[in-house]
Amino acid sequence: MPGGAVMTGDGIGANAPRSKLAGILICSFAAFGGILFGYDTGTISGIQGMSDWLRTFGHQQPDGSYGITSSQQSLVVSILSAGTFFGALFGAPVGDILGRRMGIIFSCLVFSIGVAMQTASTGIPLFVVGRVFAGLGVGLVSTLVPMYQSECAPKWIRGAVVALYQFAITIGILLAAIFNNATKDRPNHSSYRIPVAIQFIWAFILVVGMFFLPESPRWLVKRHRDADAARAMSRLVSSSPDAPEVQLELDEVRVALKHEEELGESSYLDCFRSSDNKIRFRTLTGIFLQAFQQLTGINFIFYYGTTYFKQAGIQNPFLIQIATNVVNVGMTIPGIYGVERAGRRSLLLIGAAGMCLCEFLVAIIGVTISTDNQSGQRALIALVCIYVAFFASTWGPIAWVLTGEIFPLNVRAKAMSLATASNWLWNFGIGYATPYLVNSGAGNANLGSRVFFIWGSCCFACFAFAFFCVPETKGLSLEQIDLLYLNSTPLTSVAYRNKLIAENSRVADALGDRKD
Ligand code: GLC
Repeated sequence: MPGGAVMTGDGIGANAPRSKLAGILICSFAAFGGILFGYDTGTISGIQGMSDWLRTFGHQQPDGSYGITSSQQSLVVSILSAGTFFGALFGAPVGDILGRRMGIIFSCLVFSIGVAMQTASTGIPLFVVGRVFAGLGVGLVSTLVPMYQSECAPKWIRGAVVALYQFAITIGILLAAIFNNATKDRPNHSSYRIPVAIQFIWAFILVVGMFFLPESPRWLVKRHRDADAARAMSRLVSSSPDAPEVQLELDEVRVALKHEEELGESSYLDCFRSSDNKIRFRTLTGIFLQAFQQLTGINFIFYYGTTYFKQAGIQNPFLIQIATNVVNVGMTIPGIYGVERAGRRSLLLIGAAGMCLCEFLVAIIGVTISTDNQSGQRALIALVCIYVAFFASTWGPIAWVLTGEIFPLNVRAKAMSLATASNWLWNFGIGYATPYLVNSGAGNANLGSRVFFIWGSCCFACFAFAFFCVPETKGLSLEQIDLLYLNSTPLTSVAYRNKLIAENSRVADALGDRKD
Protein backbone atom coordinates (compact mmCIF):
# COMPACT_ATOMS: atom_id res chain seq x y z
CA MET A 1 0.00 0.00 0.00
CA PRO A 2 1.33 3.42 -0.83
CA GLY A 3 2.20 4.69 2.58
CA GLY A 4 2.54 8.41 1.83
CA ALA A 5 -0.93 8.70 0.36
CA VAL A 6 -2.48 7.02 3.36
CA MET A 7 -0.74 9.38 5.70
CA THR A 8 -2.43 12.49 4.34
CA GLY A 9 -5.79 11.96 5.95
CA ASP A 10 -4.41 11.16 9.36
CA GLY A 11 -3.87 14.62 10.66
CA ILE A 12 -7.60 15.23 10.89
CA GLY A 13 -8.37 12.87 13.70
CA ALA A 14 -5.44 13.99 15.77
CA ASN A 15 -6.03 17.66 15.03
CA ALA A 16 -9.70 18.11 15.52
CA PRO A 17 -11.13 15.74 18.09
CA ARG A 18 -13.80 18.17 19.27
CA SER A 19 -15.36 18.50 15.86
CA LYS A 20 -15.90 14.73 15.94
CA LEU A 21 -18.32 14.71 18.83
CA ALA A 22 -21.16 13.88 16.46
CA GLY A 23 -19.22 10.88 15.14
CA ILE A 24 -18.61 9.64 18.67
CA LEU A 25 -22.27 9.99 19.64
CA ILE A 26 -23.41 8.23 16.47
CA CYS A 27 -21.11 5.26 17.01
CA SER A 28 -21.87 5.15 20.72
CA PHE A 29 -25.57 4.84 20.02
CA ALA A 30 -24.98 1.77 17.83
CA ALA A 31 -23.45 0.11 20.91
CA PHE A 32 -27.05 -0.29 22.05
CA GLY A 33 -27.02 -3.49 19.96
CA GLY A 34 -24.99 -4.98 22.83
CA ILE A 35 -28.07 -4.80 25.05
CA LEU A 36 -29.89 -7.22 22.71
CA PHE A 37 -26.89 -9.55 22.84
CA GLY A 38 -26.39 -9.42 26.63
CA TYR A 39 -30.06 -9.49 27.58
CA ASP A 40 -30.91 -12.37 25.27
CA THR A 41 -28.02 -14.55 26.44
CA GLY A 42 -28.62 -13.61 30.09
CA THR A 43 -32.36 -14.08 30.30
CA ILE A 44 -32.64 -17.83 29.75
CA SER A 45 -30.84 -18.90 32.92
CA GLY A 46 -33.53 -17.22 35.04
CA ILE A 47 -36.51 -18.09 32.85
CA GLN A 48 -35.89 -21.82 32.86
CA GLY A 49 -36.02 -21.79 36.65
CA MET A 50 -39.42 -20.04 36.88
CA SER A 51 -42.19 -22.23 38.23
CA ASP A 52 -44.84 -21.12 35.73
CA TRP A 53 -42.43 -21.70 32.83
CA LEU A 54 -41.65 -25.18 34.13
CA ARG A 55 -45.37 -25.95 34.63
CA THR A 56 -46.16 -24.75 31.11
CA PHE A 57 -43.22 -26.24 29.23
CA GLY A 58 -42.29 -29.23 31.39
CA HIS A 59 -44.02 -32.27 32.80
CA GLN A 60 -44.82 -33.45 36.26
CA GLN A 61 -42.10 -35.41 38.05
CA PRO A 62 -42.77 -38.37 40.36
CA ASP A 63 -42.34 -36.04 43.36
CA GLY A 64 -45.14 -33.76 42.08
CA SER A 65 -42.86 -30.90 40.98
CA TYR A 66 -42.53 -29.79 37.34
CA GLY A 67 -39.36 -30.00 35.29
CA ILE A 68 -37.88 -30.47 31.84
CA THR A 69 -35.43 -33.19 30.85
CA SER A 70 -31.68 -32.50 30.66
CA SER A 71 -31.71 -32.81 26.90
CA GLN A 72 -34.60 -30.32 26.65
CA GLN A 73 -32.69 -27.99 28.96
CA SER A 74 -29.55 -28.32 26.83
CA LEU A 75 -31.59 -27.64 23.71
CA VAL A 76 -33.37 -24.59 25.11
CA VAL A 77 -30.11 -23.04 26.40
CA SER A 78 -27.67 -23.84 23.63
CA ILE A 79 -29.92 -23.51 20.56
CA LEU A 80 -29.51 -19.74 20.81
CA SER A 81 -25.76 -20.08 20.21
CA ALA A 82 -26.46 -22.26 17.17
CA GLY A 83 -28.64 -19.43 15.79
CA THR A 84 -26.07 -16.78 16.69
CA PHE A 85 -23.30 -18.79 15.02
CA PHE A 86 -25.14 -18.73 11.69
CA GLY A 87 -26.32 -15.17 12.26
CA ALA A 88 -22.69 -14.10 12.73
CA LEU A 89 -21.71 -15.82 9.46
CA PHE A 90 -24.63 -14.20 7.59
CA GLY A 91 -23.48 -10.85 9.02
CA ALA A 92 -20.95 -10.52 6.20
CA PRO A 93 -23.29 -10.87 3.20
CA VAL A 94 -26.02 -8.92 4.96
CA GLY A 95 -23.58 -6.09 5.80
CA ASP A 96 -22.18 -6.06 2.27
CA ILE A 97 -25.54 -6.22 0.47
CA LEU A 98 -27.81 -4.08 2.67
CA GLY A 99 -25.08 -1.92 4.15
CA ARG A 100 -24.05 -1.83 7.80
CA ARG A 101 -26.89 0.41 8.93
CA MET A 102 -29.77 -1.31 7.13
CA GLY A 103 -28.19 -4.64 8.10
CA ILE A 104 -28.55 -3.72 11.78
CA ILE A 105 -32.20 -2.74 11.20
CA PHE A 106 -32.81 -6.04 9.39
CA SER A 107 -31.19 -7.94 12.31
CA CYS A 108 -33.64 -6.31 14.73
CA LEU A 109 -36.56 -7.48 12.60
CA VAL A 110 -35.29 -11.08 12.56
CA PHE A 111 -34.67 -10.82 16.29
CA SER A 112 -38.21 -9.51 16.91
CA ILE A 113 -39.75 -12.46 15.04
CA GLY A 114 -37.90 -14.76 17.44
CA VAL A 115 -39.01 -12.74 20.46
CA ALA A 116 -42.65 -12.83 19.26
CA MET A 117 -42.49 -16.63 18.92
CA GLN A 118 -41.03 -17.08 22.38
CA THR A 119 -43.55 -14.71 23.93
CA ALA A 120 -46.49 -16.51 22.32
CA SER A 121 -45.24 -20.03 22.94
CA THR A 122 -46.57 -22.43 25.52
CA GLY A 123 -44.57 -25.43 24.33
CA ILE A 124 -40.92 -26.30 23.76
CA PRO A 125 -40.97 -26.53 19.90
CA LEU A 126 -42.16 -22.95 19.25
CA PHE A 127 -39.96 -21.62 22.05
CA VAL A 128 -36.92 -23.33 20.53
CA VAL A 129 -37.70 -22.03 17.01
CA GLY A 130 -38.12 -18.58 18.54
CA ARG A 131 -34.69 -18.88 20.18
CA VAL A 132 -33.16 -19.82 16.82
CA PHE A 133 -34.61 -16.67 15.20
CA ALA A 134 -33.61 -14.47 18.14
CA GLY A 135 -30.15 -16.06 17.93
CA LEU A 136 -29.89 -15.27 14.22
CA GLY A 137 -30.73 -11.65 15.02
CA VAL A 138 -28.20 -11.45 17.86
CA GLY A 139 -25.54 -13.11 15.69
CA LEU A 140 -26.13 -10.57 12.92
CA VAL A 141 -26.01 -7.71 15.41
CA SER A 142 -22.81 -9.04 16.96
CA THR A 143 -21.04 -8.87 13.59
CA LEU A 144 -22.64 -5.69 12.23
CA VAL A 145 -22.49 -3.37 15.25
CA PRO A 146 -18.69 -3.55 15.83
CA MET A 147 -18.27 -3.32 12.03
CA TYR A 148 -20.40 -0.18 11.81
CA GLN A 149 -18.74 1.37 14.84
CA SER A 150 -15.18 0.70 13.76
CA GLU A 151 -15.86 2.04 10.26
CA CYS A 152 -17.52 5.23 11.51
CA ALA A 153 -15.66 6.13 14.70
CA PRO A 154 -12.79 8.64 14.67
CA LYS A 155 -9.63 6.60 15.05
CA TRP A 156 -8.34 8.34 18.18
CA ILE A 157 -11.33 7.01 20.11
CA ARG A 158 -12.41 4.03 17.99
CA GLY A 159 -11.30 1.48 20.61
CA ALA A 160 -13.29 3.14 23.38
CA VAL A 161 -16.36 3.48 21.15
CA VAL A 162 -16.32 -0.21 20.19
CA ALA A 163 -15.66 -1.10 23.84
CA LEU A 164 -18.96 0.61 24.63
CA TYR A 165 -20.57 -2.28 22.78
CA GLN A 166 -19.14 -4.68 25.37
CA PHE A 167 -20.36 -2.30 28.08
CA ALA A 168 -23.86 -2.59 26.63
CA ILE A 169 -23.55 -6.41 26.62
CA THR A 170 -22.73 -6.40 30.32
CA ILE A 171 -25.64 -4.05 31.05
CA GLY A 172 -27.90 -6.37 29.03
CA ILE A 173 -26.84 -9.37 31.14
CA LEU A 174 -27.46 -7.40 34.33
CA LEU A 175 -30.86 -6.13 33.14
CA ALA A 176 -31.91 -9.69 32.35
CA ALA A 177 -31.03 -10.78 35.89
CA ILE A 178 -32.97 -7.85 37.34
CA PHE A 179 -36.12 -8.34 35.23
CA ASN A 180 -36.11 -12.11 35.77
CA ASN A 181 -35.84 -11.56 39.47
CA ALA A 182 -38.70 -9.04 39.45
CA THR A 183 -41.20 -11.28 37.64
CA LYS A 184 -40.13 -14.79 38.65
CA ASP A 185 -42.78 -15.21 41.37
CA ARG A 186 -45.80 -14.17 39.28
CA PRO A 187 -48.28 -17.05 39.27
CA ASN A 188 -49.08 -16.96 35.53
CA HIS A 189 -47.45 -16.81 32.08
CA SER A 190 -46.61 -13.15 32.59
CA SER A 191 -43.69 -14.35 34.77
CA TYR A 192 -41.70 -15.36 31.68
CA ARG A 193 -43.60 -13.41 29.02
CA ILE A 194 -42.69 -10.03 30.50
CA PRO A 195 -38.90 -10.55 30.57
CA VAL A 196 -39.01 -12.17 27.11
CA ALA A 197 -41.22 -9.45 25.59
CA ILE A 198 -39.11 -6.64 27.07
CA GLN A 199 -36.66 -7.45 24.29
CA PHE A 200 -39.03 -5.79 21.80
CA ILE A 201 -38.22 -2.51 23.51
CA TRP A 202 -34.46 -2.92 22.99
CA ALA A 203 -34.98 -3.86 19.32
CA PHE A 204 -37.39 -0.96 18.78
CA ILE A 205 -34.99 1.60 20.26
CA LEU A 206 -32.15 0.31 18.08
CA VAL A 207 -34.27 0.35 14.90
CA VAL A 208 -35.55 3.88 15.48
CA GLY A 209 -32.05 5.14 16.31
CA MET A 210 -30.44 3.49 13.28
CA PHE A 211 -32.98 5.14 10.96
CA PHE A 212 -31.51 8.49 11.93
CA LEU A 213 -27.84 7.52 11.81
CA PRO A 214 -25.72 7.77 8.65
CA GLU A 215 -24.51 4.72 6.72
CA SER A 216 -20.83 3.77 7.04
CA PRO A 217 -18.93 6.04 4.59
CA ARG A 218 -16.49 3.18 3.97
CA TRP A 219 -19.32 0.96 2.71
CA LEU A 220 -20.70 3.81 0.57
CA VAL A 221 -17.29 4.44 -1.01
CA LYS A 222 -17.03 0.74 -1.73
CA ARG A 223 -20.40 1.00 -3.48
CA HIS A 224 -19.14 4.01 -5.47
CA ARG A 225 -21.83 6.21 -3.91
CA ASP A 226 -19.46 9.13 -3.53
CA ALA A 227 -22.00 11.87 -2.88
CA ASP A 228 -23.72 9.77 -0.18
CA ALA A 229 -20.33 8.90 1.30
CA ALA A 230 -19.43 12.60 1.51
CA ARG A 231 -22.75 13.37 3.21
CA ALA A 232 -22.32 10.50 5.69
CA MET A 233 -18.72 11.51 6.44
CA SER A 234 -19.75 15.14 6.86
CA ARG A 235 -22.19 14.10 9.59
CA LEU A 236 -19.49 12.11 11.34
CA VAL A 237 -16.98 14.99 11.33
CA SER A 238 -19.59 17.79 11.67
CA SER A 239 -18.57 19.57 8.49
CA SER A 240 -20.04 20.26 5.09
CA PRO A 241 -19.71 17.46 2.48
CA ASP A 242 -17.18 19.43 0.43
CA ALA A 243 -15.05 20.49 3.40
CA PRO A 244 -11.35 19.55 3.00
CA GLU A 245 -11.35 17.37 6.14
CA VAL A 246 -14.25 15.33 4.75
CA GLN A 247 -12.52 14.89 1.41
CA LEU A 248 -9.23 13.97 3.08
CA GLU A 249 -10.89 11.27 5.16
CA LEU A 250 -12.65 9.93 2.06
CA ASP A 251 -9.39 10.01 0.08
CA GLU A 252 -7.80 7.87 2.74
CA VAL A 253 -10.60 5.33 2.42
CA ARG A 254 -10.40 5.43 -1.41
CA VAL A 255 -6.66 4.78 -1.45
CA ALA A 256 -7.07 1.75 0.79
CA LEU A 257 -10.07 0.54 -1.17
CA LYS A 258 -8.35 0.96 -4.54
CA HIS A 259 -5.45 -1.12 -3.34
CA GLU A 260 -7.82 -3.76 -2.05
CA GLU A 261 -9.89 -3.76 -5.25
CA GLU A 262 -6.71 -4.48 -7.16
CA LEU A 263 -6.59 -7.66 -5.14
CA GLY A 264 -10.09 -8.53 -6.38
CA GLU A 265 -13.51 -9.35 -4.85
CA SER A 266 -13.03 -11.58 -1.85
CA SER A 267 -14.60 -14.85 -0.78
CA TYR A 268 -14.42 -16.65 2.55
CA LEU A 269 -11.49 -18.61 1.14
CA ASP A 270 -9.65 -15.36 0.48
CA CYS A 271 -9.66 -14.71 4.22
CA PHE A 272 -7.17 -17.58 4.46
CA ARG A 273 -5.03 -16.56 1.48
CA SER A 274 -1.42 -15.84 2.27
CA SER A 275 -0.63 -12.34 1.02
CA ASP A 276 1.68 -9.38 1.53
CA ASN A 277 -0.66 -7.79 4.05
CA LYS A 278 -0.95 -11.06 6.01
CA ILE A 279 -4.65 -11.68 5.49
CA ARG A 280 -4.47 -15.29 6.65
CA PHE A 281 -2.58 -14.38 9.80
CA ARG A 282 -5.07 -11.61 10.56
CA THR A 283 -8.09 -13.84 10.02
CA LEU A 284 -6.65 -16.55 12.25
CA THR A 285 -5.75 -13.94 14.87
CA GLY A 286 -9.40 -12.81 14.93
CA ILE A 287 -10.73 -16.36 15.11
CA PHE A 288 -8.34 -17.38 17.91
CA LEU A 289 -8.79 -14.13 19.79
CA GLN A 290 -12.53 -14.73 20.05
CA ALA A 291 -12.02 -18.41 20.91
CA PHE A 292 -9.58 -17.46 23.68
CA GLN A 293 -11.99 -14.84 24.99
CA GLN A 294 -14.49 -17.66 25.58
CA LEU A 295 -11.80 -20.02 26.88
CA THR A 296 -11.07 -17.61 29.74
CA GLY A 297 -14.12 -19.37 31.20
CA ILE A 298 -16.14 -16.18 31.71
CA ASN A 299 -19.46 -17.71 30.71
CA PHE A 300 -18.95 -20.46 33.24
CA ILE A 301 -19.60 -17.70 35.78
CA PHE A 302 -22.54 -16.16 33.90
CA TYR A 303 -24.27 -19.39 32.88
CA TYR A 304 -23.51 -21.66 35.83
CA GLY A 305 -22.24 -19.32 38.54
CA THR A 306 -25.30 -19.67 40.74
CA THR A 307 -25.08 -23.47 40.69
CA TYR A 308 -21.32 -23.38 41.29
CA PHE A 309 -21.58 -21.01 44.27
CA LYS A 310 -24.39 -23.12 45.70
CA GLN A 311 -22.30 -26.30 45.39
CA ALA A 312 -19.40 -24.54 47.11
CA GLY A 313 -21.74 -24.08 50.10
CA ILE A 314 -22.09 -20.32 49.64
CA GLN A 315 -25.26 -18.88 51.13
CA ASN A 316 -27.34 -16.68 48.86
CA PRO A 317 -25.69 -17.61 45.56
CA PHE A 318 -28.21 -15.41 43.66
CA LEU A 319 -26.87 -12.34 45.39
CA ILE A 320 -23.29 -13.33 44.61
CA GLN A 321 -24.31 -13.83 40.99
CA ILE A 322 -25.75 -10.31 40.87
CA ALA A 323 -22.52 -9.06 42.49
CA THR A 324 -20.43 -10.65 39.71
CA ASN A 325 -22.73 -8.98 37.19
CA VAL A 326 -22.27 -5.60 38.84
CA VAL A 327 -18.46 -6.06 38.85
CA ASN A 328 -18.69 -7.02 35.18
CA VAL A 329 -20.56 -3.82 34.31
CA GLY A 330 -18.51 -1.55 36.59
CA MET A 331 -15.09 -2.81 35.54
CA THR A 332 -15.87 -2.48 31.84
CA ILE A 333 -15.65 1.31 32.38
CA PRO A 334 -11.91 1.31 33.17
CA GLY A 335 -11.58 -1.04 30.18
CA ILE A 336 -13.19 1.55 27.89
CA TYR A 337 -10.81 4.17 29.24
CA GLY A 338 -7.75 1.92 29.25
CA VAL A 339 -8.09 0.69 25.68
CA GLU A 340 -7.05 4.14 24.38
CA ARG A 341 -4.51 4.75 27.16
CA ALA A 342 -2.64 1.52 27.88
CA GLY A 343 -3.43 0.06 24.44
CA ARG A 344 -4.91 -3.23 23.33
CA ARG A 345 -1.87 -5.48 23.47
CA SER A 346 -0.69 -4.52 26.96
CA LEU A 347 -4.19 -4.82 28.42
CA LEU A 348 -4.63 -8.28 26.91
CA LEU A 349 -1.35 -9.36 28.51
CA ILE A 350 -2.23 -7.89 31.91
CA GLY A 351 -5.74 -9.36 31.77
CA ALA A 352 -4.56 -12.86 30.85
CA ALA A 353 -1.94 -12.87 33.62
CA GLY A 354 -4.42 -11.58 36.23
CA MET A 355 -7.16 -14.04 35.27
CA CYS A 356 -4.69 -16.93 35.17
CA LEU A 357 -3.52 -16.21 38.72
CA CYS A 358 -7.05 -15.76 40.12
CA GLU A 359 -8.33 -18.93 38.47
CA PHE A 360 -5.51 -21.11 39.78
CA LEU A 361 -6.11 -19.68 43.26
CA VAL A 362 -9.88 -20.32 42.99
CA ALA A 363 -9.16 -23.90 41.94
CA ILE A 364 -6.72 -24.47 44.80
CA ILE A 365 -8.96 -22.87 47.44
CA GLY A 366 -12.10 -24.54 46.06
CA VAL A 367 -10.47 -27.97 46.21
CA THR A 368 -8.97 -27.55 49.68
CA ILE A 369 -11.69 -25.82 51.74
CA SER A 370 -14.72 -27.55 53.21
CA THR A 371 -18.24 -26.28 52.40
CA ASP A 372 -18.57 -24.76 55.90
CA ASN A 373 -15.29 -22.81 55.85
CA GLN A 374 -16.59 -19.26 55.69
CA SER A 375 -13.31 -17.40 55.36
CA GLY A 376 -12.30 -19.76 52.56
CA GLN A 377 -15.60 -19.04 50.84
CA ARG A 378 -15.12 -15.29 51.22
CA ALA A 379 -11.69 -15.63 49.60
CA LEU A 380 -13.26 -17.68 46.82
CA ILE A 381 -15.94 -15.04 46.15
CA ALA A 382 -13.36 -12.23 46.24
CA LEU A 383 -11.11 -14.05 43.77
CA VAL A 384 -13.99 -14.78 41.40
CA CYS A 385 -14.93 -11.09 41.50
CA ILE A 386 -11.31 -10.03 40.84
CA TYR A 387 -11.16 -12.51 37.98
CA VAL A 388 -14.39 -11.04 36.50
CA ALA A 389 -12.90 -7.55 36.98
CA PHE A 390 -9.79 -8.53 34.99
CA PHE A 391 -11.97 -9.96 32.22
CA ALA A 392 -14.31 -6.97 32.12
CA SER A 393 -11.51 -4.44 31.88
CA THR A 394 -9.42 -6.31 29.29
CA TRP A 395 -10.45 -9.35 27.23
CA GLY A 396 -14.18 -8.56 27.38
CA PRO A 397 -14.04 -5.29 25.42
CA ILE A 398 -10.70 -5.72 23.63
CA ALA A 399 -11.61 -8.91 21.77
CA TRP A 400 -14.49 -6.97 20.17
CA VAL A 401 -12.37 -3.86 19.56
CA LEU A 402 -9.67 -5.83 17.74
CA THR A 403 -12.21 -7.84 15.76
CA GLY A 404 -13.46 -4.53 14.37
CA GLU A 405 -10.07 -3.23 13.34
CA ILE A 406 -7.49 -5.85 12.37
CA PHE A 407 -8.92 -6.95 9.00
CA PRO A 408 -8.30 -5.23 5.65
CA LEU A 409 -11.36 -3.69 4.01
CA ASN A 410 -11.70 -6.15 1.15
CA VAL A 411 -12.21 -9.09 3.52
CA ARG A 412 -13.34 -7.16 6.63
CA ALA A 413 -16.98 -8.19 6.57
CA LYS A 414 -16.21 -11.88 6.00
CA ALA A 415 -13.30 -12.09 8.41
CA MET A 416 -15.34 -10.32 11.11
CA SER A 417 -18.12 -12.82 10.54
CA LEU A 418 -15.71 -15.71 10.93
CA ALA A 419 -14.21 -14.29 14.13
CA THR A 420 -17.63 -13.58 15.62
CA ALA A 421 -18.86 -17.04 14.63
CA SER A 422 -15.83 -18.46 16.41
CA ASN A 423 -16.92 -16.60 19.56
CA TRP A 424 -20.37 -18.22 19.33
CA LEU A 425 -19.04 -21.65 18.48
CA TRP A 426 -16.87 -21.68 21.62
CA ASN A 427 -19.65 -20.07 23.60
CA PHE A 428 -21.89 -22.95 22.55
CA GLY A 429 -19.23 -25.65 23.12
CA ILE A 430 -18.27 -24.41 26.57
CA GLY A 431 -21.89 -23.84 27.59
CA TYR A 432 -22.81 -27.32 26.44
CA ALA A 433 -19.84 -29.18 27.89
CA THR A 434 -19.57 -27.43 31.25
CA PRO A 435 -22.33 -29.33 33.12
CA TYR A 436 -20.73 -32.60 32.04
CA LEU A 437 -17.33 -31.37 33.23
CA VAL A 438 -18.46 -29.95 36.55
CA ASN A 439 -21.40 -32.04 37.77
CA SER A 440 -21.20 -35.24 39.71
CA GLY A 441 -23.12 -38.35 38.70
CA ALA A 442 -22.80 -41.03 36.06
CA GLY A 443 -21.23 -39.90 32.79
CA ASN A 444 -19.95 -36.61 34.28
CA ALA A 445 -16.34 -35.70 35.03
CA ASN A 446 -17.20 -34.32 38.49
CA LEU A 447 -14.45 -31.70 38.34
CA GLY A 448 -16.17 -29.15 40.61
CA SER A 449 -13.73 -26.32 41.41
CA ARG A 450 -10.98 -28.16 39.55
CA VAL A 451 -12.54 -26.87 36.33
CA PHE A 452 -10.75 -23.59 37.16
CA PHE A 453 -7.44 -25.35 36.49
CA ILE A 454 -8.67 -25.72 32.90
CA TRP A 455 -9.70 -22.06 32.61
CA GLY A 456 -6.45 -20.96 34.33
CA SER A 457 -4.37 -22.97 31.85
CA CYS A 458 -6.35 -21.47 28.99
CA CYS A 459 -5.56 -17.98 30.34
CA PHE A 460 -1.88 -18.91 30.28
CA ALA A 461 -2.35 -19.79 26.60
CA CYS A 462 -4.21 -16.46 26.16
CA PHE A 463 -1.10 -14.66 27.44
CA ALA A 464 1.19 -16.49 25.00
CA PHE A 465 -1.27 -15.85 22.16
CA ALA A 466 -1.48 -12.11 22.90
CA PHE A 467 2.29 -11.87 23.24
CA PHE A 468 3.13 -13.57 19.94
CA CYS A 469 0.12 -12.76 17.75
CA VAL A 470 -1.53 -9.45 18.70
CA PRO A 471 0.02 -6.17 17.50
CA GLU A 472 -0.59 -2.80 19.16
CA THR A 473 -3.15 -0.88 17.11
CA LYS A 474 -4.03 1.96 19.52
CA GLY A 475 -4.70 5.29 17.82
CA LEU A 476 -4.14 4.04 14.24
CA SER A 477 -6.61 4.41 11.39
CA LEU A 478 -7.91 1.18 9.84
CA GLU A 479 -5.72 1.96 6.84
CA GLN A 480 -2.62 2.47 9.00
CA ILE A 481 -3.29 -0.92 10.60
CA ASP A 482 -2.74 -2.37 7.12
CA LEU A 483 0.66 -0.67 7.09
CA LEU A 484 1.39 -2.00 10.55
CA TYR A 485 0.78 -5.58 9.43
CA LEU A 486 2.75 -4.99 6.26
CA ASN A 487 5.83 -3.58 7.94
CA SER A 488 6.04 -5.07 11.43
CA THR A 489 5.39 -8.18 13.49
CA PRO A 490 3.35 -8.24 16.72
CA LEU A 491 6.63 -8.13 18.67
CA THR A 492 7.92 -5.04 16.81
CA SER A 493 4.48 -3.45 16.43
CA VAL A 494 4.72 -1.04 19.36
CA ALA A 495 7.80 0.69 17.90
CA TYR A 496 6.32 0.81 14.39
CA ARG A 497 3.01 2.13 15.70
CA ASN A 498 4.85 4.92 17.56
CA LYS A 499 6.60 5.82 14.30
CA LEU A 500 3.26 6.06 12.47
CA ILE A 501 1.81 8.24 15.22
CA ALA A 502 4.86 10.53 15.07
CA GLU A 503 4.40 10.88 11.29
CA ASN A 504 0.73 11.71 11.92
CA SER A 505 1.63 14.58 14.17
CA ARG A 506 4.07 15.98 11.62
CA VAL A 507 1.36 15.89 8.90
CA ALA A 508 -1.18 17.40 11.30
CA ASP A 509 1.22 20.22 12.16
CA ALA A 510 1.89 20.86 8.47
CA LEU A 511 -1.85 21.03 7.75
CA GLY A 512 -2.31 23.34 10.73
CA ASP A 513 0.46 25.65 9.44
CA ARG A 514 -1.12 25.67 6.00
CA LYS A 515 -4.50 26.68 7.46
CA ASP A 516 -2.86 29.48 9.49
C1 GLC B 1 -18.18 -10.93 26.11
C2 GLC B 1 -18.31 -12.35 25.66
C3 GLC B 1 -19.65 -12.91 26.10
C4 GLC B 1 -19.78 -12.78 27.60
C5 GLC B 1 -19.65 -11.34 27.99
C6 GLC B 1 -19.66 -11.16 29.49
O1 GLC B 1 -19.02 -10.12 25.38
O2 GLC B 1 -18.19 -12.43 24.25
O3 GLC B 1 -19.72 -14.27 25.73
O4 GLC B 1 -21.03 -13.29 28.02
O5 GLC B 1 -18.42 -10.81 27.50
O6 GLC B 1 -19.53 -9.82 29.83
